[in-house]
Amino acid sequence: MRKPLVAGNWKMNKLVGESLALVNALKPLVKDVEGVDIVVCPVFTALHAVADALKGSNIQLGAQNCFTRESGAYTGEVSPQMLKDAGCTWTIIGHSERRQYFNESDEFLNEKLRFALASGLKVMFCIGETLEERESGRMNDVLVRQITNGLMGLSEADFDNTSIAYEPVWAIGTGVTATPEQAEEAHAFVRGLVRDQFGEAVADKVRIQYGGSVKPDNVASLMAKPNVDGSLVGGASLKADGFAELVRKSL
Ligand code: 13P
Repeated sequence: MRKPLVAGNWKMNKLVGESLALVNALKPLVKDVEGVDIVVCPVFTALHAVADALKGSNIQLGAQNCFTRESGAYTGEVSPQMLKDAGCTWTIIGHSERRQYFNESDEFLNEKLRFALASGLKVMFCIGETLEERESGRMNDVLVRQITNGLMGLSEADFDNTSIAYEPVWAIGTGVTATPEQAEEAHAFVRGLVRDQFGEAVADKVRIQYGGSVKPDNVASLMAKPNVDGSLVGGASLKADGFAELVRKSL
């Protein structure tokens, strides 16, 4: 049985004070929740303050991105070591917004993934097809490419610290959620790819989160599917009440 993983990707939202207000409101609402890994991913500038606020709570801290070197002349970048220093245990890598707006390739994302894991961070590694790719029948090819190139070189042990987040781009921020059947079909396909490439034990243990317009009122039907092990939540993670409800409905 895979433990559900519910993460809030706050994207480029909330100042430090607003971030603190959100986690301080969230903490009491989920403090009795056991059996779900709960993660929040604020912007870089709020990480350190939010880490302090989360001390002693059952909420883990993640970043939204990181770079492939520990330190050096890489203006504007942040290393996994710096994220850990700021209190993170997780980072997101390969979000479709990074792929789309910053041209991050599968190869570069694989480098990031391996470096983050080697540095001791846990990673939510995002994949997913665009509407055009789905409608032209290329969805499976895209997922094969993203999984094969993105996860290349990982060891069996790396999958204890890697979650795959399937986020169909057409469902992100659009209010259009994949149906539970669509999500299950994609997740089962992805788990099959992992089985082919890394074996049964890895396929059984790796968590696959769904992301794309997840809300408190649709999360339970998604989580009811056998291959859906959690969610990566954008808009609905920005309000404490709603996110807490969503976490509770993920059990
Ligand atoms: P929304 O939940 O706002 O659709 O965003 C999903 C997402 O991109 C999470 O990483």
